[in-house]
Amino acid sequence: MDLNGQNISEKNFDVVIVGGGGSGLRASLEISKSGLSVAVVSKVFPTRSHTVAAQGGITCAIASADPDDDWRWHMFDTVKGSDYIGDQNAIEYMCSEGPDAVFELEHMGLPFSRFENGRIYQRPFGGQSKEFGEGGQAARTCAAADRTGHALLHTLYQANLKAGTKFFNEWFAVNLIKNTEGSVGGVSCFDMETGELSIIKCNAVVLATGGAGQVYEQNTTSLICTGDGLGMVLRNDLPLQDMEMWQFHPTGLYGNGSLMTEGCRGEGGYLINSEGERFMPTYAPKAKDLASRDVVSRCIVQEILAGRGCGPKKDHVLLKIDHLGEEAIKRKLPEIREISMTFANVDPINEAIPVVPTCHYMMGGIPTNIHGQVLTQDQNGADKIIDGLYSIGEAANVSVHGANRLGGNSLLDLVVFGRAAGRHINEKYKDSGRQNLPKSEVENSLEVTFKLNETKDGENVFDLKAEMQNIMQSYFGVYRNKALMEKGINKLNEVTEKTKKLHLRDKSNQFNSERVEALEYLNMLDIAKATAFSALAREESRGAHAREDFPERDDQNWLCHSLFFSNNNEVKKREVNFKPQQVESFKPKARVY
Ligand code: FUM
Repeated sequence: MDLNGQNISEKNFDVVIVGGGGSGLRASLEISKSGLSVAVVSKVFPTRSHTVAAQGGITCAIASADPDDDWRWHMFDTVKGSDYIGDQNAIEYMCSEGPDAVFELEHMGLPFSRFENGRIYQRPFGGQSKEFGEGGQAARTCAAADRTGHALLHTLYQANLKAGTKFFNEWFAVNLIKNTEGSVGGVSCFDMETGELSIIKCNAVVLATGGAGQVYEQNTTSLICTGDGLGMVLRNDLPLQDMEMWQFHPTGLYGNGSLMTEGCRGEGGYLINSEGERFMPTYAPKAKDLASRDVVSRCIVQEILAGRGCGPKKDHVLLKIDHLGEEAIKRKLPEIREISMTFANVDPINEAIPVVPTCHYMMGGIPTNIHGQVLTQDQNGADKIIDGLYSIGEAANVSVHGANRLGGNSLLDLVVFGRAAGRHINEKYKDSGRQNLPKSEVENSLEVTFKLNETKDGENVFDLKAEMQNIMQSYFGVYRNKALMEKGINKLNEVTEKTKKLHLRDKSNQFNSERVEALEYLNMLDIAKATAFSALAREESRGAHAREDFPERDDQNWLCHSLFFSNNNEVKKREVNFKPQQVESFKPKARVY
């Protein structure tokens, strides 16, 4: 097909997965094994996807290994951690399927660390309890030292090679394409090596594009975490859910942002202030340093605001693990030692590590049901399924994390819902024919790249991106209030105006990283606005969303999801699911640790 003077090549698959991280690869594996043809479009080589950076582990209650634990307690902790806006049907599904999904990985060859009796090693993580919060700390996070994501991603990639999944590596997905019925029937994309533009026709597209941590100036995420699937969804007039909910991990390496795993505290490490005082027991007497992440991050900020921050600027705290001993640090936390020696010049065997809360995870995302089918709202406010479109992993909001995610639940989310989406697709599309995509829809989907290619002068993407990241960091961080956020929105509007003059200086085709960054930036700017308007609309404090002007949780008005539509920047409400199938629902109560 020729468009805008350019040749567009065509490919056909039953299913296209956009994103080669943990959720994408778990879904593609399920689909490839069923015999359907599946293409994974990934902007990096799949084993470089951000899942590789997950450190501490994958959480699930393995009752056969620890008779004192139970998936229902994991479910309770996750509901409580979500500050009661996680969907209980989805949380129940994740926690009850968890052990099976983890054993499956083990049988594929994932090299878990082991207890002496040969069982998978499990460490304590934040917010984990026994007996519905009354029975002390559980140790529930299955780990491969502090490189669990690395082990998981390589295991899944190898299994996909064996199953015959087709990979388009270093291909950038631009947009969704609608078919003649108005459902999703393909994606437009280009080969970053050659610039070849292409469309891939298919019966189902799965957006597994990960999070968008790069929206913030200081974050623990890879440069590739730009929320490309969320940008596509917004460009197609579909909503995003709970975008005000961003997780600030308590222990990002000061000055660098790299993750210092919660596993450090799980193994017995703790936080100290400039007076050398262990401060978490004052704020969270029971869970102490293993309270949930939103709580620990706010306590660190409180310590810094009270003048007890460390260093010349008094702007961070210290993570102490030296008392664990050299042998334990080298065996259980080797990556942490390497990162802190390389980037902070600190050997944690001898010294405490400088840390600060850092943007780590996007709880919000593309609303889906437990099969990964993407949802919008009809005119009556009821859920409506978008045919042919799925989303999984951090890109999606199913919603198991609600207002605050527990550590180790993201890797579980990836494999449980990646597999669930694969199963649903296998069933639904096993006998489907091929798609017909109107030329006008192909053209629409590529409009953004054609426009960039025609610019003659204007703003450069690197400055615009830095400005947007700075606004998000300054106006939509750990603590928020109306006046601050309104100022932030005005500033985002100014950047949006400048972005209309975005100019692509380099028009070449071979590995044009400026073009890729421009497209990523456009996705991120839309996500930043979704966050800003959703955060302003939610007039309460819940989970990671802490408002100084509305310090209490308001279950009367806000025990619900927010749903952002880019048309008029409108924020609607959507009901939380309180209908698990196998247990009684957990009623909201005060969240103390
Ligand atoms: O601290 C960590 O290892 C992070 C884990 C997670 O975000 O799940």
